[in-house]
Amino acid sequence: MTLLELDSVSVHYGRIRAVHNLSLTVGEGEIVALIGANGAGKTTTMRAISGIRPVSGGKIIFNGEDITRMRGEKRVERGIAQSPEGRRIFPGMTVLENLDMGAYARKDKDGIAEDLERVFELFPRLAERKDQAGGTMSGGEQQMLAIGRALMARPKLLLLDEPSMGLAPQYIQQIFRIITEINEQGTTVLLVEQNAQQALARSHRAYVLETGEIVKAGTGKELLADPSVKEAYLGVG
Ligand SMILES: Nc1ncnc2c1ncn2[C@@H]1O[C@H](COP(=O)(O)OP(=O)(O)OP(=O)(O)O)[C@@H](O)[C@H]1O
Ligand SMILES: [Mg+2]
Repeated sequence: MTLLELDSVSVHYGRIRAVHNLSLTVGEGEIVALIGANGAGKTTTMRAISGIRPVSGGKIIFNGEDITRMRGEKRVERGIAQSPEGRRIFPGMTVLENLDMGAYARKDKDGIAEDLERVFELFPRLAERKDQAGGTMSGGEQQMLAIGRALMARPKLLLLDEPSMGLAPQYIQQIFRIITEINEQGTTVLLVEQNAQQALARSHRAYVLETGEIVKAGTGKELLADPSVKEAYLGVG
């Protein structure tokens, strides 16, 4: 079943067209990756889906419902959670308070407690540091916190914008393993990554974005083997 569909979506910043007639689907249970160079429109696409940025054309359908004009908060209630680029956590709040914020739209206390435990299992570091101010956590730890906070919404669809950014190599492996784990536990994932190699290896399907338009789509495997993708995004000719 299709969980998310973007149908000819365009997004502008003033007169700058960042995303143009973009169509994509994310099926329930999938990990779908969006790769592309700096400025290709990946973050803008994520913002359009989470409702941070209004679209200037096209339609966004989530779980059978047209959410094109729906407010961001409502989309969270519908089951869309985003871990934004640059780990925008709340620096003055503790780790635990940050995680609680992720669950703000929920009322199921038992479910929230369960998910907190799950987040602590996925990221033991967050459990160790639950009373530390978010802003004093290391870069990699803040990345874990941003992902953990998004998971606390118990989303149907998890939007991850550059989860491996700024992480040391051993943490990059770990983050990608955790993404697979989260997916296997039932969460659908849309993943934006500069680390195309890892992203393609871990996703069921992927789209390549160039200057706001999708230029290629396929399974992760297909794109990993695609000569032009290799040359442009995998650093091998
Ligand atoms: N707030 C803004 N105002 C004006 N232009 C913007 C704004 N945000 C993004 N843009 C422009 O829109 C285009 C797409 O940006 P976007 O952030 O979506 O790219 P990206 O693919 O996420 O890149 P990166 O890999 O560097 O994160 C870029 O040309 C960018 O300069
Ligand atoms: Mg970006």
